Amino acid sequence: MTIAFDFTNMMAGALASGQGITESQFSNAQKAFSAAHAAVESQRASLGFLSLPTNEALLASTLAVADNARGKYTDVLLLGIGGSALGPIALRTALRPYAWNALDLSARDGFPRLHVLDNVDPLTIAAILSRLDLTQTLVLVVSKSGGTVETMAQYLIVRDALARAMDETRARQHIVFVTDPTVGALRRIARAEGVTTLDIPPNIGGRFSVLSPVGLLPAALIGIDVRALLAGAADMTQRAQSDSLATNPAGIFAVLQWVADTQHRRAIQALMPYADPLRDLALWFVQLWAESLGKIRPDGTHAGPTPIPALGATDQHSQVQLFMEGPLDKTVTFVAVSGRQNDGPIPSRHSDIPELAYLGGRTLGTLLDIEQRATAGALAARGRFNATLHIDAIDAWHVGGLMQLFALATAYAGSLYGVNAFNQPGVELGKNFAYAMLGRPGSDAARAEWDALPKPDPRWRV
Ligand code: PA5
Repeated sequence: MTIAFDFTNMMAGALASGQGITESQFSNAQKAFSAAHAAVESQRASLGFLSLPTNEALLASTLAVADNARGKYTDVLLLGIGGSALGPIALRTALRPYAWNALDLSARDGFPRLHVLDNVDPLTIAAILSRLDLTQTLVLVVSKSGGTVETMAQYLIVRDALARAMDETRARQHIVFVTDPTVGALRRIARAEGVTTLDIPPNIGGRFSVLSPVGLLPAALIGIDVRALLAGAADMTQRAQSDSLATNPAGIFAVLQWVADTQHRRAIQALMPYADPLRDLALWFVQLWAESLGKIRPDGTHAGPTPIPALGATDQHSQVQLFMEGPLDKTVTFVAVSGRQNDGPIPSRHSDIPELAYLGGRTLGTLLDIEQRATAGALAARGRFNATLHIDAIDAWHVGGLMQLFALATAYAGSLYGVNAFNQPGVELGKNFAYAMLGRPGSDAARAEWDALPKPDPRWRV
C-alpha cells in the first residue's frame, strides 16, 4: 500500500522550451517549506484535523451511532453544504460501488442509500422527498456552525416532513446532528429536543472535517471501512512529520504548486484523476484549495491559485485541448491507479479493422493508464507543468491517505502564501447581504451597505 508522487514533469529537466522549476528554485523552496512546516507544527493544538486519524474517542462515538442505526433504515439523507457535504459525497463515490443509490438492498449488502442535499434548489429537495420513505430514513444534519442558512432551510423542510410522517417521539429518533459541541442553533435544538448529536471538535473547520463525524458517520452508515480510511490518513500524517521535501508528499505537493504559481505564473491548478470513483474527490479538493488559499494577505495583496476539477480520460476530449495549447498558466496533477477492479480484457472482435485490432486483449485499465501517461508526456513535451500521484488501489486506505495529503498540503500552502488557510472572510459579505434581504435580526449594517450599492442600470441590460 503506497501513495507515491512523481513530479518529474514539474521540473526544468523534463519540460520542453525552457519551462519548469529549476533546481535552485527547488532548493530555495526547501527553506521556505521548513518554515511552513514549522508554522503548521507550532499550531498543532489548534489544527484539529492533524489528530483526527488517531482520535479514538471521536471514532468510538461515531461508530456507536452508526451501530445503533444498523439495519433500521433503507436511506440516509444528509443535509449540509460546502465542507459538510463535499467530503461525504466524495467518500460515497470513491468507496461504494458505482451508482450506489440505484442498487437494491442485497447489492448494497444491507447498507442504506446515501443522499446528500448540498444545495437549496427546491426541485432537488422536492424530488428527493417525494422518493424517500421517511419512516425508513435517517436524517443527518451536518453543520459545524449549526446555523448555516442553506442547511437550516433544508432542516426546517425535512423536519416538517418528518413531523407529518410520524409522531414526534419517533421523528426525533430519525435525526442525528453533527455540529459544534457548544454553539449554534443545532446544539440548542439538540439540548431542547434530546436529538442524538455528534461533536465536530471546535478546532476543525468544515473543509478539513471529512475525517471527523462529518465524513465518518455517513461513511460508516453505508459500510465504508472507516478504520482503513483513518489508517491511510494516519500513514500520510506520519510521513508529514518530516520537514524534508524528499519524504513529505503533502509538503512537496504544496511547494510545487506554490512555486509554479508564484514563480512561473501557473495559477490554475487542475486535479485530474484517471478513475471515475475519484471524480468527486477532485470537487472536494477544489473547495479545500480555493476556500483556504484565495485570500487577502495582511499587507493587502491578493493570493490564491485557482483549482479546477478534471477527469481522465473524459477531459482529454474537453479541457485537455486548453491544457495543451492554452495560456502557460496551469499545472495538472493526475491521480493514476495501478490496481483496478473488474478490469477484464477488451474483446478481440473486428481484428481485421486496424482502428480496432490494436485494442483487442488490452484491458480498459491499461487503456486508461496508457492514456494518462501519454497525456502527461504530451503536456511535458509542450512545456506544461504536470505531476502524478500514484495509488495502488481505490480503497479506503488510499483515499484516506490522499485526503490527508491534500489537507496537509493546504495547511502548508497557507503558510507559503502568507494567508490564513482556516478562515473564509470572503464569503461573509454575500452571506450578510442575503441575511439582510431575508430580514435576519442583526443585519442592519449589511442592509445599509446593500441599500447603498448602485442599482441595476437599465442601459446595461438587454
Ligand atoms: O469549509 C468551510 O468552512 C465551509 O465550506 C463550510 O463547510 C460551509 O460554509 C458550511 O458550514 P457549516 O458546516 O458551518 O454549516
